[in-house]
Amino acid sequence: MPSRTYAQIVGWGKYVPSQVLTNDDLAKIVDTSDDWIRTRTGIVERRIAEPRETTSTMSIKAARAALQVADVTPERLDLIIVTTATPDYLFPATACLVQDALGARRAGAFDLLAGCSGFVYGLGVGSQLIISGVYQNVLVIGAETLSRIMDWTDRNTCVLFGDGAGALLLQASDTPGGVLSFTLGADGSGGDLLILAGGGSRHPASAETVAQGLHYVRMNGRQVFRFATRIMGQAAKEAIQAAGLKIDDVDLFIPHQANIRIIQAAAKQLRLPMDKVFVNLERYGNTSCASIPIAFCEAIEEERIKPGDHLVLVSFGAGLTWAATAVQWPVPLPAPRLSSWKRLLRRVGYRWAWFVSRLRRTYRKLNVWWGRAAGRIRGHNNG
Ligand code: COA
Repeated sequence: MPSRTYAQIVGWGKYVPSQVLTNDDLAKIVDTSDDWIRTRTGIVERRIAEPRETTSTMSIKAARAALQVADVTPERLDLIIVTTATPDYLFPATACLVQDALGARRAGAFDLLAGCSGFVYGLGVGSQLIISGVYQNVLVIGAETLSRIMDWTDRNTCVLFGDGAGALLLQASDTPGGVLSFTLGADGSGGDLLILAGGGSRHPASAETVAQGLHYVRMNGRQVFRFATRIMGQAAKEAIQAAGLKIDDVDLFIPHQANIRIIQAAAKQLRLPMDKVFVNLERYGNTSCASIPIAFCEAIEEERIKPGDHLVLVSFGAGLTWAATAVQWPVPLPAPRLSSWKRLLRRVGYRWAWFVSRLRRTYRKLNVWWGRAAGRIRGHNNG
């Protein structure tokens, strides 16, 4: 019988900016309080990117960490998926900026937009490309610089979100386990409940769209809350069932970190005790696509994930969208620390990738310059 291919998670990495914005700091900017934010959301503080940091720079740091854990060189990557709602540019894709910085010469690269569900959508797509035998190594990144699209005068939104990045490396394996199932969903009729309306083809950026604040996130919090409390449990149940598991088989539930009350409602719906639920939103707020991979990394750091464990990752977000996946953690847990010479080699490799990228850019400029110069000489001779 031909052996099956599984998509195992073999690398993980995260990056969060060092700048911390507490609830008390926010209370100095908008009419809110630490007590209101804690009791309504569970959030205590969030991270804010420095001006020089962007979604791609944070993605690159998380990606390098994931590759280091797995001891996989960038040349072995087949595909890079960056899931984000706050790309560096509308195009080129942030994934291409990451591909260039890593020196992942063989990798395809694209961005995936599915609101805060993006990361689980990305895991679904990436794992299927591995299970079908197309690819060996797929890097899925969730990264956001949400502070750049916040209206810092709107207390309904600015207290909820934060910046950061996380990455998981999927690899083909014949060891059973890894990504066992996933479910993806959407209900576009709720698109206006959580929206960034400006800058696209409907409302191209103009002085008017800026004056109207269309470049900021707008949200109907109550409606999104209602949707989220209903869909999280439902999506998780579907993924658990599709994996042939029962709710009792779930060892750790890693939900999208948006609001502690939404997480508690989902756990209640699933009849899961809160000690089987991973929560870190008090430190980071809602980092959208980055929330699940950051939580995943911290669950590993805190030794909440053991070999053979069944994990369920579930998310909801703008679109409206939802997504869930069931994962069986590989046995044994792979995380030997890379030797110092290998780490040095990696650093040299990244400098080399930077150098090659600059060389290519210079070559293109010279090519254009030479084309123009040759045209001028031909024109001069003909004249
Ligand atoms: N500080 C103080 N008061 C605030 C506030 C803040 N930061 N934000 C809103 N309020 C006010 C509102 O203006 C409202 O006042 P009003 O009744 O005078 O109009 C009041 O608090 C209560 O608003 P309500 O919407 O009922 O609060 P809530 O308990 O539903 O909590 C959210 C609000 C936003 C925290 C909650 O609805 C939520 O988490 N929604 C989901 C959002 C989300 O997860 N989005 C991301 C999806 S990926």
